[in-house]
Amino acid sequence: MSHAASTDRDFEPPLVLTARNVTKSYADRVVLRGVSLELRAGERLALTGASGSGKSTLLNCLGGVDRPDAGSIRFENIFLETLDSDGLTEVRRRDIGTIFQFFHLLPTLTAAENVELPLQLNGVAAKERAERVRSLLERVGVTDRADAFPGQLSGGEMQRVAIARALAHRPTVLLADEPTGNLDSRNGAIILELLRELSDETDTALVLVTHSGAAAQICHREIHLRDGQIAGEREKD
Ligand SMILES: Nc1ncnc2c1ncn2[C@@H]1O[C@H](COP(=O)(O)OP(=O)(O)O)[C@@H](O)[C@H]1O
Ligand SMILES: [Mg+2]
Repeated sequence: MSHAASTDRDFEPPLVLTARNVTKSYADRVVLRGVSLELRAGERLALTGASGSGKSTLLNCLGGVDRPDAGSIRFENIFLETLDSDGLTEVRRRDIGTIFQFFHLLPTLTAAENVELPLQLNGVAAKERAERVRSLLERVGVTDRADAFPGQLSGGEMQRVAIARALAHRPTVLLADEPTGNLDSRNGAIILELLRELSDETDTALVLVTHSGAAAQICHREIHLRDGQIAGEREKD
């Protein structure tokens, strides 16, 4: 369900993600220097910044793929730093959807099978899986490509399938790292509009790492990183 009016802040949706003072280094290179942010249910946040500013590292920490050296990340009511790697995997599988610049579809599975996989991993029954795969592929506009393999799809089609896969298990938050970075501007615009609509329709929060001003436009809020620190933050009107 979408909010009646997403600009109406009298009613604040619940917090989904809270990062507090997150720091991270690789060897002696400091990549994140005390980053704090909050994300609410259904909210779309753009993470912008130059190449190397730490966007992907921050996204990976938020999604439990990578661990901060210090600081805290709370996902719903769970502090990620208290989980072992199996616990992190479980949170990701259940509650987080991810999309990437290079799609990361499994090449030996068809489009439909790629979308079905997270449902199998979550123990969803076969009949329900088939129904969800069908309706998601329809929603992202690739019903006629259901039985194609990724190698037979265009970039835009691959990203549509990847979005369907990322939403199949109905995650609370969708993390997207430069999802239009490998698409031409027309397909990029279609993918952004799809992300905006789907996050509204399903009330899924979105963190969108992007170089592109157009991509940031679909978000409610933008955080700009510079050298691993928040250098600016603004609400969109
Ligand atoms: N696994 C890694 N090992 C060593 N250095 C890394 C690793 N991942 C990222 N870095 C470095 O951390 C910095 C930030 O990288 P990244 O988060 O990918 O930035 P962005 O996504 O903003 O381009 C870069 O200098 C990058 O080289
Ligand atoms: Mg990156």
